[in-house]
Amino acid sequence: MAGEPRLICASADLAERGRGVRFEVEYFGERAPAFVVRFGGKVHGYLNRCAHVALELDWREGEFFDPDGRDLLCSTHGATYAAESGRCTGGPCGRKSLVKLKVAERDGSVYYLGCDDD
Ligand code: FES
Repeated sequence: MAGEPRLICASADLAERGRGVRFEVEYFGERAPAFVVRFGGKVHGYLNRCAHVALELDWREGEFFDPDGRDLLCSTHGATYAAESGRCTGGPCGRKSLVKLKVAERDGSVYYLGCDDD
């Protein structure tokens, strides 16, 4: 359900291609893990749920990027996703994508705006 923007973290908490920040959202009536990362200077948010098997991507909390800092990586079986779109770029995710969330950055803070079940 759409609501007020919800504060996730400070902008300074998200370095370019650095550690992500985890948070929770309500997705189709259930609590679900989510995360934000910074890539290309912009903040991108996704459900923390691999498209291969519904597991969280980060083996070590907040570590979402591959070693090159190029794609998002699922630690379990190595699926990779484009950081700006969530589209599968390799591994067992096939043609599936991460679920992208609506996030915004303003005045030094990052906010969650909602997801497509709104
Ligand atoms: S659960 Fe993510 S690649 Fe298998």
